[in-house]
Amino acid sequence: MQNFVFHNPTKILFGKNTLSSLGTETAAFSKRVLLVYGRNSIKKTGLYDRVIESLAHEKIEVVDHAGVSPNPLVSHVREGIAKVKECDLGAIVAVGGGSVIDSAKAIAAGALVAHDVWKFFIGKKTIKATLPVITVLTLAAAGSEMNSGMVLTNEKTVEKFGFGHRLLYPKTSILDPELTFTVPPDYTAYGAIDAISHVLEFYMTTQDPDTQVQDRIMEGLLINCMENCERCLDKPDDYSARANLMWAATLALNGLTAAGLGRVGFPMHMIEHSLSALYNVPHGAGLSVIIPGWLTWALPHRKKRIARLGRQIFPETITNELSTTAAAGQTIALLRDWFAAQHSPVSLSELDIPITDIPHIAQNSLQLARVWRLKEYGQHEIETILTLCK
Ligand code: NZQ
Ligand code: ZN
Repeated sequence: MQNFVFHNPTKILFGKNTLSSLGTETAAFSKRVLLVYGRNSIKKTGLYDRVIESLAHEKIEVVDHAGVSPNPLVSHVREGIAKVKECDLGAIVAVGGGSVIDSAKAIAAGALVAHDVWKFFIGKKTIKATLPVITVLTLAAAGSEMNSGMVLTNEKTVEKFGFGHRLLYPKTSILDPELTFTVPPDYTAYGAIDAISHVLEFYMTTQDPDTQVQDRIMEGLLINCMENCERCLDKPDDYSARANLMWAATLALNGLTAAGLGRVGFPMHMIEHSLSALYNVPHGAGLSVIIPGWLTWALPHRKKRIARLGRQIFPETITNELSTTAAAGQTIALLRDWFAAQHSPVSLSELDIPITDIPHIAQNSLQLARVWRLKEYGQHEIETILTLCK
């Protein structure tokens, strides 16, 4: 186990009717806020009116910034930054999923500088201050509600880049599982798969041989994400299933799982971000295609780890009688089958991405490999992984 610092400053209000605290939680930071949300789900579900009511109760002035799209765009963030500067707003309230929360974080950082916000994403500028961000989570997936990361797409350069900074943690996040009852089946599955991938990225790339505590936390989160994804698809308003999936997804990327693992990577995300940037694939759908391919590529040097994973998450099939190689191979096949059973794509062809595009996709991923310093991934390695996803 490696040395680590674990410091997560985000206050979480979890459970039924926690939304009613939004006004007081926000008033603690500012009485003039930008409200960031998606295209129409919060209006359709009636959540918008409940949010406005809670903020109005604390006499908080609200400027709307609607229209965040899945795979959020830096152009839309720039418009939000302009509104904050023009109206001299003091905090950002984000109501939605990871795309909305990430946009809110980028606005919170961009509103306090004169330069373009994209300079943060290409390492040309560092964040020195941010406006407070308060979030209301409506989709269990990205974990942005309790972490220091954010991901944006620059549609002009066709890059989808992400990075973390300690000033990007939301001040307070409200996690009311009932707000996720209306998430459609596809995004319920994509969200669970995103959370599963957050765990697998660290579980599979740590080089430390002795990470018992983290291993069991990660394996428990994986089992929870899989079990509760199935329950939510079965019964979308199953409070217990939605609550377990929501909390598991938040814990999957809030720093807890990575503590003590030493250097880890995010290679599956590095490649998936190119699918989202180039073809606007939903993040979780891109991951269900990339994960089995990356695991197959990694098998020769990670077979013990993959076999261990299988013994934990598929115990009836991946028994101790199986050799490590057989166990690892079957684990990848079972995981691919599980993704397919949640109706998430498992091949580039299902995403209508021609295999002739593989060199171009690899070139796009290489740019993020450089920003993320994942030197072990060159054009050839990424093309090999993508060919295993076809
Ligand atoms: O736009 P609206 O109408 O609101 O509809 C949204 C959107 O179409 C809908 N939705 C959200 N909550 C709903 C709902 N529909 C009905 N009922 C509800 N309660 O779901 C769709 C997808 O929303 P989105 O926010 O895009 O999904 P998700 O939460 O999966 O976020 C994905 C984004 O998170 C980034 C991804 O790159 C992607 O851009 N990530 C952020 C990370 C971070 N900050 O740490 C890490 C992750 O790996 C991930 O990369
Ligand atoms: Zn993700």
